[in-house]
Amino acid sequence: MKVFNPDNTPISLYIHLPWCEKKCPYCDFNINVNKTLGDEEKLLGALFEDLSFSKKYILNRKFSSIYFGGGTPSLVSPMIIEKLITKLSNEGLIKDHCEISFELNPKEVSKEYLNDITNIGINRISIGIQSFDQIVLDSLERNHNAQQSLIAMETVAEFGKLETSIDLIYGVMEQSLSSLQNDLETFCKYNFNHLSLYQLTIEPNTIFYKRELKIPSDEIIESMESMAKRTLNQNEIYQYEVSSWAKNNMHSKHNMNYWMYGDYLGIGPGAHSKITTSESILRMIKLKKVDSYIKDPTKNIITKIDESKYDLDLAMNLLRIKNGISFKEAKKRNIFISKQFNQKVVTGIEAGLLEKDLFKATPKGYKFLNDTINLFN
Ligand SMILES: C[S@@+](CC[C@H](N)C(=O)[O-])C[C@H]1O[C@@H](n2cnc3c(N)ncnc32)[C@H](O)[C@@H]1O
Ligand code: SF4
Repeated sequence: MKVFNPDNTPISLYIHLPWCEKKCPYCDFNINVNKTLGDEEKLLGALFEDLSFSKKYILNRKFSSIYFGGGTPSLVSPMIIEKLITKLSNEGLIKDHCEISFELNPKEVSKEYLNDITNIGINRISIGIQSFDQIVLDSLERNHNAQQSLIAMETVAEFGKLETSIDLIYGVMEQSLSSLQNDLETFCKYNFNHLSLYQLTIEPNTIFYKRELKIPSDEIIESMESMAKRTLNQNEIYQYEVSSWAKNNMHSKHNMNYWMYGDYLGIGPGAHSKITTSESILRMIKLKKVDSYIKDPTKNIITKIDESKYDLDLAMNLLRIKNGISFKEAKKRNIFISKQFNQKVVTGIEAGLLEKDLFKATPKGYKFLNDTINLFN
Protein backbone atom coordinates (compact mmCIF):
# COMPACT_ATOMS: atom_id res chain seq x y z
CA MET A 1 0.00 0.00 0.00
CA LYS A 2 1.39 3.41 -0.94
CA VAL A 3 1.17 5.57 2.15
CA PHE A 4 3.75 8.33 1.84
CA ASN A 5 4.36 10.74 -0.98
CA PRO A 6 8.03 11.80 -1.04
CA ASP A 7 7.73 14.07 -4.11
CA ASN A 8 5.80 16.69 -2.15
CA THR A 9 7.73 16.48 1.12
CA PRO A 10 10.03 19.48 1.69
CA ILE A 11 13.72 18.59 1.86
CA SER A 12 16.79 20.29 3.32
CA LEU A 13 20.51 19.50 3.17
CA TYR A 14 22.98 19.16 6.05
CA ILE A 15 26.71 19.11 5.25
CA HIS A 16 28.98 17.92 8.06
CA LEU A 17 32.44 19.50 8.17
CA PRO A 18 34.09 17.53 10.96
CA TRP A 19 37.29 19.32 11.92
CA CYS A 20 37.96 21.21 15.16
CA GLU A 21 41.12 22.76 16.57
CA LYS A 22 40.66 20.78 19.78
CA LYS A 23 37.95 18.63 21.32
CA CYS A 24 35.88 20.50 23.91
CA PRO A 25 35.54 18.29 27.01
CA TYR A 26 31.72 18.36 26.94
CA CYS A 27 31.19 17.70 23.24
CA ASP A 28 30.08 14.35 21.86
CA PHE A 29 29.56 15.48 18.27
CA ASN A 30 31.38 13.60 15.54
CA ILE A 31 34.55 15.63 15.26
CA ASN A 32 38.17 15.18 14.25
CA VAL A 33 41.18 17.21 15.37
CA ASN A 34 43.74 15.95 12.84
CA LYS A 35 43.14 17.96 9.67
CA THR A 36 46.18 17.92 7.42
CA LEU A 37 46.99 19.44 4.06
CA GLY A 38 44.88 17.93 1.27
CA ASP A 39 42.14 16.58 3.59
CA GLU A 40 39.66 19.26 2.58
CA GLU A 41 39.97 18.32 -1.10
CA LYS A 42 39.59 14.63 -0.29
CA LEU A 43 36.45 15.34 1.72
CA LEU A 44 35.11 17.53 -1.09
CA GLY A 45 35.48 14.64 -3.56
CA ALA A 46 33.65 12.32 -1.17
CA LEU A 47 30.85 14.86 -0.62
CA PHE A 48 30.36 15.14 -4.40
CA GLU A 49 30.18 11.36 -4.69
CA ASP A 50 27.73 11.19 -1.79
CA LEU A 51 25.53 13.82 -3.43
CA SER A 52 25.40 11.97 -6.78
CA PHE A 53 24.57 8.71 -4.99
CA SER A 54 21.84 10.48 -2.98
CA LYS A 55 19.93 11.66 -6.07
CA LYS A 56 17.65 8.64 -5.58
CA TYR A 57 16.56 10.14 -2.27
CA ILE A 58 16.32 13.74 -3.44
CA LEU A 59 14.14 12.83 -6.47
CA ASN A 60 12.99 16.00 -8.28
CA ARG A 61 13.08 18.15 -5.18
CA LYS A 62 15.18 21.23 -4.45
CA PHE A 63 16.62 22.07 -1.03
CA SER A 64 14.71 24.77 0.87
CA SER A 65 17.59 25.13 3.32
CA ILE A 66 21.25 24.14 3.45
CA TYR A 67 23.24 23.95 6.69
CA PHE A 68 27.03 23.73 6.98
CA GLY A 69 27.56 22.31 10.48
CA GLY A 70 30.32 20.70 12.43
CA GLY A 71 32.80 20.40 13.84
CA THR A 72 33.96 23.85 12.93
CA PRO A 73 32.98 24.76 9.35
CA SER A 74 34.91 28.02 9.66
CA LEU A 75 38.16 26.01 9.69
CA VAL A 76 37.44 25.01 6.09
CA SER A 77 38.61 27.24 3.27
CA PRO A 78 35.80 29.31 1.66
CA MET A 79 37.02 27.98 -1.71
CA ILE A 80 35.81 24.49 -0.74
CA ILE A 81 32.45 25.90 0.38
CA GLU A 82 32.18 27.80 -2.90
CA LYS A 83 32.77 24.60 -4.88
CA LEU A 84 30.01 22.86 -2.95
CA ILE A 85 27.48 25.67 -3.42
CA THR A 86 28.37 25.98 -7.12
CA LYS A 87 27.84 22.24 -7.62
CA LEU A 88 24.46 22.37 -5.87
CA SER A 89 23.45 25.39 -7.92
CA ASN A 90 24.61 23.90 -11.25
CA GLU A 91 22.61 20.78 -10.53
CA GLY A 92 19.48 22.88 -9.93
CA LEU A 93 19.19 21.73 -6.30
CA ILE A 94 18.83 25.11 -4.59
CA LYS A 95 15.30 26.45 -4.18
CA ASP A 96 14.58 30.20 -4.49
CA HIS A 97 15.00 32.00 -1.14
CA CYS A 98 16.98 29.06 0.20
CA GLU A 99 18.35 29.66 3.71
CA ILE A 100 22.07 28.80 3.61
CA SER A 101 23.53 28.67 7.12
CA PHE A 102 27.11 28.33 8.26
CA GLU A 103 28.56 27.70 11.74
CA LEU A 104 31.53 29.79 12.86
CA ASN A 105 33.65 29.78 15.97
CA PRO A 106 34.24 33.33 17.27
CA LYS A 107 37.95 33.26 16.49
CA GLU A 108 37.28 33.00 12.75
CA VAL A 109 34.81 35.89 12.59
CA SER A 110 36.48 38.67 10.62
CA LYS A 111 35.23 41.15 8.04
CA GLU A 112 37.27 39.37 5.34
CA TYR A 113 35.90 35.93 6.23
CA LEU A 114 32.32 37.25 6.32
CA ASN A 115 32.87 38.90 2.93
CA ASP A 116 34.19 35.64 1.51
CA ILE A 117 31.32 33.49 2.71
CA THR A 118 28.55 35.94 1.82
CA ASN A 119 29.99 36.39 -1.67
CA ILE A 120 29.55 32.66 -2.27
CA GLY A 121 25.95 32.56 -1.10
CA ILE A 122 25.88 32.06 2.70
CA ASN A 123 23.00 34.18 4.05
CA ARG A 124 22.83 33.08 7.69
CA ILE A 125 25.51 32.40 10.28
CA SER A 126 25.53 30.77 13.69
CA ILE A 127 28.37 31.72 16.01
CA GLY A 128 29.42 29.43 18.88
CA ILE A 129 29.83 32.21 21.45
CA GLN A 130 28.85 30.06 24.48
CA SER A 131 29.42 32.94 26.92
CA PHE A 132 30.85 36.44 27.29
CA ASP A 133 32.21 35.50 30.72
CA GLN A 134 35.83 34.32 30.83
CA ILE A 135 35.12 32.19 33.93
CA VAL A 136 32.46 30.23 32.03
CA LEU A 137 34.63 29.88 28.91
CA ASP A 138 37.47 28.59 31.12
CA SER A 139 35.13 26.05 32.75
CA LEU A 140 34.15 24.85 29.29
CA GLU A 141 37.83 24.87 28.24
CA ARG A 142 36.93 26.70 25.04
CA ASN A 143 39.71 27.78 22.74
CA HIS A 144 38.40 31.34 22.46
CA ASN A 145 38.19 34.08 25.06
CA ALA A 146 35.54 36.57 26.17
CA GLN A 147 37.21 39.39 24.28
CA GLN A 148 36.99 37.36 21.05
CA SER A 149 33.29 36.67 21.73
CA LEU A 150 32.64 40.43 21.95
CA ILE A 151 34.77 41.26 18.91
CA ALA A 152 32.84 38.64 16.90
CA MET A 153 29.54 40.32 17.87
CA GLU A 154 30.86 43.79 16.97
CA THR A 155 32.22 42.57 13.64
CA VAL A 156 28.96 40.92 12.60
CA ALA A 157 26.84 43.88 13.75
CA GLU A 158 29.01 46.25 11.73
CA PHE A 159 28.99 43.94 8.71
CA GLY A 160 25.14 43.77 8.58
CA LYS A 161 23.46 41.97 5.61
CA LEU A 162 23.49 38.55 7.30
CA GLU A 163 20.93 36.76 9.46
CA THR A 164 22.81 35.90 12.64
CA SER A 165 22.26 33.44 15.44
CA ILE A 166 24.52 32.77 18.39
CA ASP A 167 24.84 29.78 20.72
CA LEU A 168 24.93 30.36 24.48
CA ILE A 169 25.23 27.72 27.20
CA TYR A 170 23.76 27.70 30.71
CA GLY A 171 24.12 25.33 33.64
CA VAL A 172 27.92 25.47 33.57
CA MET A 173 30.12 24.95 36.64
CA GLU A 174 31.07 28.33 38.17
CA GLN A 175 28.30 30.08 36.19
CA SER A 176 26.19 32.42 38.33
CA LEU A 177 22.71 33.67 37.60
CA SER A 178 24.06 37.18 37.06
CA SER A 179 26.72 35.90 34.66
CA LEU A 180 24.03 34.27 32.51
CA GLN A 181 21.91 37.41 32.75
CA ASN A 182 24.82 39.45 31.50
CA ASP A 183 25.31 36.99 28.59
CA LEU A 184 21.65 37.34 27.59
CA GLU A 185 21.64 41.12 27.94
CA THR A 186 24.80 41.37 25.86
CA PHE A 187 23.14 39.24 23.18
CA CYS A 188 20.02 41.47 23.24
CA LYS A 189 22.12 44.61 22.92
CA TYR A 190 23.28 43.53 19.46
CA ASN A 191 19.74 43.11 18.11
CA PHE A 192 20.28 39.78 16.35
CA ASN A 193 17.13 37.83 15.54
CA HIS A 194 18.03 34.37 16.78
CA LEU A 195 19.49 32.60 19.79
CA SER A 196 20.18 28.93 20.52
CA LEU A 197 20.30 28.55 24.30
CA TYR A 198 21.59 25.14 25.35
CA GLN A 199 21.66 23.64 28.81
CA LEU A 200 25.04 21.96 29.34
CA THR A 201 24.50 18.21 29.19
CA ILE A 202 27.13 15.80 30.44
CA GLU A 203 27.22 13.11 27.78
CA PRO A 204 28.81 9.66 28.16
CA ASN A 205 32.01 9.39 26.09
CA THR A 206 33.09 12.92 26.95
CA ILE A 207 35.95 14.06 29.17
CA PHE A 208 33.50 15.83 31.50
CA TYR A 209 31.67 12.55 32.09
CA LYS A 210 34.74 11.13 33.79
CA ARG A 211 35.20 14.13 36.07
CA GLU A 212 33.46 15.12 39.26
CA LEU A 213 31.85 18.37 38.26
CA LYS A 214 30.01 20.89 40.40
CA ILE A 215 27.16 21.68 38.06
CA PRO A 216 24.42 24.01 39.34
CA SER A 217 21.54 22.43 41.28
CA ASP A 218 18.09 21.85 39.74
CA GLU A 219 16.81 24.92 41.63
CA ILE A 220 19.51 27.14 40.13
CA ILE A 221 18.82 25.70 36.65
CA GLU A 222 15.13 26.53 37.11
CA SER A 223 15.96 30.09 38.18
CA MET A 224 18.27 30.42 35.18
CA GLU A 225 15.47 29.29 32.86
CA SER A 226 12.87 31.65 34.28
CA MET A 227 15.33 34.56 34.28
CA ALA A 228 16.22 33.76 30.65
CA LYS A 229 12.56 33.75 29.65
CA ARG A 230 11.94 37.07 31.43
CA THR A 231 15.01 38.78 29.99
CA LEU A 232 14.47 37.55 26.45
CA ASN A 233 10.72 38.21 26.42
CA GLN A 234 11.35 41.77 27.64
CA ASN A 235 13.42 42.15 24.48
CA GLU A 236 10.67 40.62 22.30
CA ILE A 237 12.56 37.39 21.84
CA TYR A 238 10.37 34.30 22.20
CA GLN A 239 11.04 30.59 22.58
CA TYR A 240 9.75 28.51 19.65
CA GLU A 241 11.47 25.20 20.41
CA VAL A 242 13.28 23.57 23.36
CA SER A 243 16.56 25.48 22.74
CA SER A 244 15.55 28.03 20.10
CA TRP A 245 14.54 31.65 20.58
CA ALA A 246 13.72 34.26 17.93
CA LYS A 247 12.69 37.85 17.41
CA ASN A 248 10.20 38.84 14.69
CA ASN A 249 9.41 35.15 14.01
CA MET A 250 12.83 34.73 12.40
CA HIS A 251 12.82 31.01 13.10
CA SER A 252 15.57 28.88 11.61
CA LYS A 253 13.97 27.38 8.49
CA HIS A 254 16.43 24.53 8.64
CA ASN A 255 15.68 23.51 12.22
CA MET A 256 11.94 23.98 11.79
CA ASN A 257 12.07 21.55 8.89
CA TYR A 258 13.48 18.88 11.25
CA TRP A 259 10.74 19.33 13.82
CA MET A 260 7.98 19.70 11.22
CA TYR A 261 8.92 16.28 9.94
CA GLY A 262 10.39 17.44 6.64
CA ASP A 263 12.99 15.31 4.92
CA TYR A 264 16.70 16.06 5.23
CA LEU A 265 19.67 14.67 3.48
CA GLY A 266 22.88 14.60 5.53
CA ILE A 267 26.20 14.30 3.74
CA GLY A 268 29.62 14.08 5.37
CA PRO A 269 31.07 11.82 8.11
CA GLY A 270 28.42 10.59 10.54
CA ALA A 271 25.70 12.78 8.98
CA HIS A 272 22.08 11.79 9.65
CA SER A 273 19.29 11.74 7.07
CA LYS A 274 15.55 11.33 7.21
CA ILE A 275 14.05 10.37 3.89
CA THR A 276 10.48 9.57 2.93
CA THR A 277 9.92 6.70 0.52
CA SER A 278 6.55 5.51 -0.66
CA GLU A 279 6.33 2.74 1.97
CA SER A 280 8.27 4.01 4.96
CA ILE A 281 10.50 6.63 6.49
CA LEU A 282 14.23 5.92 6.36
CA ARG A 283 16.60 7.20 9.02
CA MET A 284 20.18 6.86 7.86
CA ILE A 285 23.67 7.55 9.23
CA LYS A 286 26.91 7.82 7.25
CA LEU A 287 30.20 6.26 8.39
CA LYS A 288 31.56 8.34 11.28
CA LYS A 289 35.32 8.29 10.81
CA VAL A 290 36.57 10.82 8.27
CA ASP A 291 38.86 8.30 6.53
CA SER A 292 36.16 5.61 6.36
CA TYR A 293 33.66 8.11 4.98
CA ILE A 294 36.11 9.31 2.34
CA LYS A 295 36.73 5.69 1.29
CA ASP A 296 33.01 4.92 1.02
CA PRO A 297 30.78 7.98 1.13
CA THR A 298 27.76 6.03 -0.08
CA LYS A 299 27.62 3.64 2.86
CA ASN A 300 24.61 4.20 5.09
CA ILE A 301 23.35 2.49 8.21
CA ILE A 302 19.62 2.44 7.56
CA THR A 303 16.74 2.13 10.03
CA LYS A 304 13.26 1.80 8.59
CA ILE A 305 10.41 3.48 10.41
CA ASP A 306 7.44 1.49 9.21
CA GLU A 307 3.76 2.20 9.86
CA SER A 308 3.89 0.65 13.35
CA LYS A 309 6.55 3.12 14.58
CA TYR A 310 5.55 6.07 12.46
CA ASP A 311 3.07 7.77 14.81
CA LEU A 312 5.58 7.89 17.67
CA ASP A 313 8.37 9.22 15.46
CA LEU A 314 6.08 11.93 14.11
CA ALA A 315 4.70 12.96 17.50
CA MET A 316 8.15 13.20 19.10
CA ASN A 317 9.25 15.71 16.48
CA LEU A 318 6.08 17.80 16.30
CA LEU A 319 5.85 18.11 20.09
CA ARG A 320 9.15 20.01 20.17
CA ILE A 321 7.48 23.00 18.47
CA LYS A 322 6.40 25.35 21.26
CA ASN A 323 3.50 26.90 19.35
CA GLY A 324 2.33 23.60 17.93
CA ILE A 325 1.39 22.96 14.34
CA SER A 326 -2.10 23.25 12.86
CA PHE A 327 -3.50 20.27 10.99
CA LYS A 328 -3.87 22.59 7.97
CA GLU A 329 -0.13 23.37 8.06
CA ALA A 330 0.66 19.66 8.48
CA LYS A 331 -1.39 18.93 5.35
CA LYS A 332 0.33 21.74 3.44
CA ARG A 333 3.69 20.20 4.34
CA ASN A 334 2.49 16.82 3.12
CA ILE A 335 2.73 15.20 6.57
CA PHE A 336 0.90 11.90 6.53
CA ILE A 337 -1.56 11.67 9.45
CA SER A 338 -2.95 8.17 9.93
CA LYS A 339 -6.43 7.31 11.23
CA GLN A 340 -4.85 5.83 14.38
CA PHE A 341 -2.87 9.05 14.92
CA ASN A 342 -6.11 11.06 14.88
CA GLN A 343 -7.67 8.63 17.36
CA LYS A 344 -4.66 8.98 19.68
CA VAL A 345 -4.98 12.77 19.45
CA VAL A 346 -8.61 12.50 20.62
CA THR A 347 -7.48 10.33 23.58
CA GLY A 348 -4.80 12.96 24.37
CA ILE A 349 -7.36 15.80 24.26
CA GLU A 350 -9.71 13.88 26.58
CA ALA A 351 -6.84 13.32 29.02
CA GLY A 352 -6.00 17.05 28.97
CA LEU A 353 -2.56 16.37 27.49
CA LEU A 354 -3.16 17.85 24.03
CA GLU A 355 -4.82 21.05 22.82
CA LYS A 356 -7.99 20.90 20.75
CA ASP A 357 -7.50 22.83 17.55
CA LEU A 358 -3.85 22.25 16.74
CA PHE A 359 -1.23 19.62 17.45
CA LYS A 360 0.29 20.95 20.66
CA ALA A 361 0.79 19.72 24.20
CA THR A 362 -1.18 21.52 26.93
CA PRO A 363 0.82 22.81 29.96
CA LYS A 364 -0.15 19.50 31.65
CA GLY A 365 0.97 17.65 28.51
CA TYR A 366 4.39 19.31 28.74
CA LYS A 367 4.66 18.58 32.44
CA PHE A 368 3.98 14.90 31.77
CA LEU A 369 5.75 14.83 28.41
CA ASN A 370 6.53 11.11 28.59
CA ASP A 371 2.84 10.29 29.00
CA THR A 372 1.98 12.60 26.13
CA ILE A 373 4.55 11.00 23.85
CA ASN A 374 3.52 7.50 24.94
CA LEU A 375 0.00 8.13 23.66
CA PHE A 376 1.52 7.53 20.23
CA ASN A 377 3.44 4.38 21.09
C1 LIG B 1 28.38 20.98 17.67
S1 LIG B 1 28.64 22.64 17.98
C2 LIG B 1 29.16 23.23 16.42
C3 LIG B 1 29.52 24.69 16.42
C4 LIG B 1 30.89 25.08 16.89
N1 LIG B 1 31.88 24.11 16.71
C5 LIG B 1 30.89 25.48 18.35
O1 LIG B 1 31.24 24.71 19.20
O2 LIG B 1 30.57 26.60 18.60
C6 LIG B 1 27.04 23.31 18.14
C7 LIG B 1 26.72 23.74 19.55
O3 LIG B 1 26.52 22.64 20.40
C8 LIG B 1 26.94 22.99 21.67
N2 LIG B 1 27.18 21.79 22.46
C9 LIG B 1 28.02 20.78 22.17
N3 LIG B 1 28.00 19.87 23.16
C10 LIG B 1 27.12 20.31 24.11
C11 LIG B 1 26.67 19.82 25.39
N4 LIG B 1 27.14 18.69 25.88
N5 LIG B 1 25.76 20.54 26.07
C12 LIG B 1 25.27 21.68 25.57
N6 LIG B 1 25.67 22.21 24.39
C13 LIG B 1 26.58 21.53 23.67
C14 LIG B 1 28.20 23.76 21.39
O4 LIG B 1 28.60 24.50 22.47
C15 LIG B 1 27.82 24.55 20.18
O5 LIG B 1 27.37 25.81 20.52
S1 SF4 C 1 34.34 23.47 18.82
FE1 SF4 C 1 32.16 22.83 18.75
S2 SF4 C 1 32.10 20.95 17.57
FE2 SF4 C 1 34.25 21.35 18.11
S3 SF4 C 1 34.58 20.15 19.93
FE3 SF4 C 1 33.99 22.18 20.60
S4 SF4 C 1 31.75 22.10 20.84
FE4 SF4 C 1 32.36 20.32 19.66
